[in-house]
Amino acid sequence: MVSEIVLDDIQDVLITEEAIRNRVGELGGQIVADYEGKELILVGVLKGALMFIVDLARAIDLPLEIDFMAISSYGKSTASSGVVRIVKDLDTNIEGRHVLIVEDIVDTGLTLKYIREVLETRNPASLRICALLDKKKQRKADVRLDYLGFEIADQFVVGYGLDFAELYRNLAFIGILKPEKYADAQAMADRQLRGGNYQPGG
Ligand code: IMP
Ligand code: MG
Repeated sequence: MVSEIVLDDIQDVLITEEAIRNRVGELGGQIVADYEGKELILVGVLKGALMFIVDLARAIDLPLEIDFMAISSYGKSTASSGVVRIVKDLDTNIEGRHVLIVEDIVDTGLTLKYIREVLETRNPASLRICALLDKKKQRKADVRLDYLGFEIADQFVVGYGLDFAELYRNLAFIGILKPEKYADAQAMADRQLRGGNYQPGG
């Protein structure tokens, strides 16, 4: 259980631990049905997809490998700039393999569009996307989500792998931060930005 210190920062629980568990189980079932007889590679996008990929992998009763990519984007911590680069590439050669990208949340879609394009050049047998959350409102790049956990309104969420200024990833649910926390952390992030530092993606 996460301490009161962290829970005090949360205004609302948007998606409960139980709702996530149920939905991840359903997604796993869908993926098993679709990939039956095949071997797949789950590609998690660090760090946000950490919790999701672990739970999803356990819900998929098929032979599978897990690999990770890490992406970095310039820009404010709550808004994607669309400028992306790979900071950690896959260890696996995905040529001729069935690849399923696992992402925490799709906002503008620019991150996933970039990852999809990069991986497509490596000639996988198939390439699909599984995202836990979708904020459709903000979409700038057209990306098809083959599997989706939940569509949510355009608001900043934390928990279950999703962070704000690197905090709150350890919450078991998806929640909304109290506005004052958000303001504090935003001020901090802006200060770092003015210093010219990278905001790690994830
Ligand atoms: P996109 O390129 O705009 O689709 O950005 C997607 C990435 O931005 C996600 O993988 C997250 O790392 C981050 N992100 C977008 N919205 C949120 C949010 O509400 N909470 C935490 N991270 C977010
Ligand atoms: Mg992410």
